[in-house]
Amino acid sequence: MDSVTQLLEAARAAIAECGDARELDALRVQYLGKKGEITALLKTLGGMDPDERRSFGQAVNEAKAEVAERVNARRAEIEAGQMAERLAAERVDVTLPGRGEERGGLHPVTRAMQRIIEIFAHLGFEVATGPEVEDDYYNFESLNFPAHHPARAMHDTFYFGDGRLLRTHTSPVQIREMQKQGAPIRIIAPGKVYRSDYDQTHSPMFHQVEGLLVGEQVTMSDLKGVLQTFVNAFFETSLEMRFRPSYFPFTEPSAEVDIAWHKDDGSDPGWLEILGCGMVHPNVLQACGVDSEQHIGYAFGMGVERLAMLRYGVTDLRQFFDNDLQFLRQFR
Ligand code: DAH
Repeated sequence: MDSVTQLLEAARAAIAECGDARELDALRVQYLGKKGEITALLKTLGGMDPDERRSFGQAVNEAKAEVAERVNARRAEIEAGQMAERLAAERVDVTLPGRGEERGGLHPVTRAMQRIIEIFAHLGFEVATGPEVEDDYYNFESLNFPAHHPARAMHDTFYFGDGRLLRTHTSPVQIREMQKQGAPIRIIAPGKVYRSDYDQTHSPMFHQVEGLLVGEQVTMSDLKGVLQTFVNAFFETSLEMRFRPSYFPFTEPSAEVDIAWHKDDGSDPGWLEILGCGMVHPNVLQACGVDSEQHIGYAFGMGVERLAMLRYGVTDLRQFFDNDLQFLRQFR
């Protein structure tokens, strides 16, 4: 009987001290396995007399049950401890903001462009687009700039040397669309244009929106009304606007549009040029196969960066293209 008691005490101590699942399994085998110590004791029962066998057998069976139960209980404790450790180590605070995730925003030029398109959409203008690589015919000739016309010099054109060029304005889209659709027509043509020019108010690539409306009874006052509506909507205020006589080969008469602009310093307003326009020249209609006796129209063209500068109070156009995030974030 003493051997059972001793064995039980040793087993209790070993199980209690054990902190590792593998070691615990080794203990289980050591006591309860086929060749284990308790199993060995049970094997001695056969050589005992009946009384001794009953009491010793009972004691060994009790010991066996106790050791099995302690091993199981200890295993549960070890597993729970491991789980608690893992949970602590892998803890994630799901309420923390993500790392390095920042929302982007639309570029101010894109936003100005979208505003312009939206305003003209309300006035019934559809969006048309054309290629940025053009040829002399579409960029100049068809727009009534004959060869050697002095107005070509104002365009600082990038030539490819094979007759192709980067369009210097969106006006060629007028031609392409009128050739496709004929008249009547009412479109705007937003897009990129290119000129070899770089300073505080010019960059080699910039954006324009062209407008064209051709019908049978169109007057310059229709043009003025549409542009006044546009200007008021774009700047969200009633702005005084004037037409100043000007010259473009593709319009006759031609005008430049100025708005009365109040500077932030409160000084007297000055007139600020914001776009060019006019009545479509009969030669342009004819180049597109539109009968200039029956049809008449107006056209206008505006620089998107220029309008964005005024609206957002930006003083150097080049900032739009520096990709300086501190600058760009202000427009989100
Ligand atoms: N194409 C001209 C430019 O880039 C702008 C312009 C002026 C367009 C008058 C027009 C217009 O359609 O009628 O300077």
